[in-house]
Amino acid sequence: MDHLVLYCRPGFEPECAAEITELANSLGVAGYARTDRGQGYVVYHCLVEQGALQLVTELPFRQLIFARQWFAAQPLIEGLPAHDRIGPLLQQLDTLPQCGELMIETADTNEAKELAGFCRKFTAPCAAAMRRHGLLSAKRTQRLPRLHLFFLDSSRVYAGISNPGNHAPQPMGIPRLKFPAAAPSRSTLKLDEAFLHFLSANERETLLCPGLRAVDLGAAPGGWTWQLVKRHIRVTAVDNGPMAESLMESGLVQHAMEDGFQYEPRKPVDWMVCDMADQPTKVAKRMALWLERGWCRRIIFNLKLPMKKRYASVVECCELISQQLDQAGVGFALDMKQLYHDREEVTGYLRVA
Ligand SMILES: C[S@@+](CC[C@H](N)C(=O)[O-])C[C@H]1O[C@@H](n2cnc3c(N)ncnc32)[C@H](O)[C@@H]1O
Repeated sequence: MDHLVLYCRPGFEPECAAEITELANSLGVAGYARTDRGQGYVVYHCLVEQGALQLVTELPFRQLIFARQWFAAQPLIEGLPAHDRIGPLLQQLDTLPQCGELMIETADTNEAKELAGFCRKFTAPCAAAMRRHGLLSAKRTQRLPRLHLFFLDSSRVYAGISNPGNHAPQPMGIPRLKFPAAAPSRSTLKLDEAFLHFLSANERETLLCPGLRAVDLGAAPGGWTWQLVKRHIRVTAVDNGPMAESLMESGLVQHAMEDGFQYEPRKPVDWMVCDMADQPTKVAKRMALWLERGWCRRIIFNLKLPMKKRYASVVECCELISQQLDQAGVGFALDMKQLYHDREEVTGYLRVA
């Protein structure tokens, strides 16, 4: 398999392509990325035999910032007849190993949404036929590779596999989160998703427990603060703008009407979160400073990306943070991801190692 299919936020294909090209080359898997802006996916054509399998095996999926999902694929299967798609498909998939689950997916675009009904109807008969053929195991399991069918339309599909534990768990890499009616802003979903993405279930229990203290920089009107308060964490909300009354009534929030780039906590806190809209490099340096000074142990922050050179901008920010903390002799770990609820932005998780 020498095609690597990666799904991304529509409009971020160049970033996804630049990122996979760089990472693949660092592993010696030369190739080139093909994409069109707005199509919501990128195909990396490997010039090395079985290069895509090598990538989904050797590269940790979590390292990718702009890809929501990925799999190693065969060349595009075209011309599936409407009266029998499954027969020709099974023939083409003969060489694949047995898989433990099937995901029938599309890009996250308006055009592809029209395929949702087709995919829903196709899933059960397709899975049944694959089970009969032995391509899918009798019982669903996450121990075997996962089979992906990524439909471009009802007659064209990329088919292939991803490895257990090295892909996004949810179909299309999209977590289905419900907007909580009591939250003051839709931004709340970004922090909710960040906790889900960056922390394990066990870490969410132990690192977000009642009684902790946090600072929220650029907090107004309070969607992120709401996520912390929901977990009974005390928050200092730093913003010149007004906070939602309901949050202030919780008794857990102190509102500091100050500049988030000047604010310093009197005592170290457990968490700092930051959603200030400003230059990404300025935000990145401030995040590093908080860790360097020991003002907190864990940070979740959002970087608003410029219009152009968005991949280069993220790389620059990661390098700035690394340099600053290396120079200060602070051991740290940093993960970045463009979350589903991120728009022209990415989210980072920085903590003391
Ligand atoms: C995207 S909004 C934050 C939304 C918030 N996270 C929520 O969930 O409701 C960005 C906020 O950053 C604040 N902000 C921008 N620059 C700031 C600064 N230098 N100091 C403090 N707040 C700042 C703005 O006032 C604005 O309320």
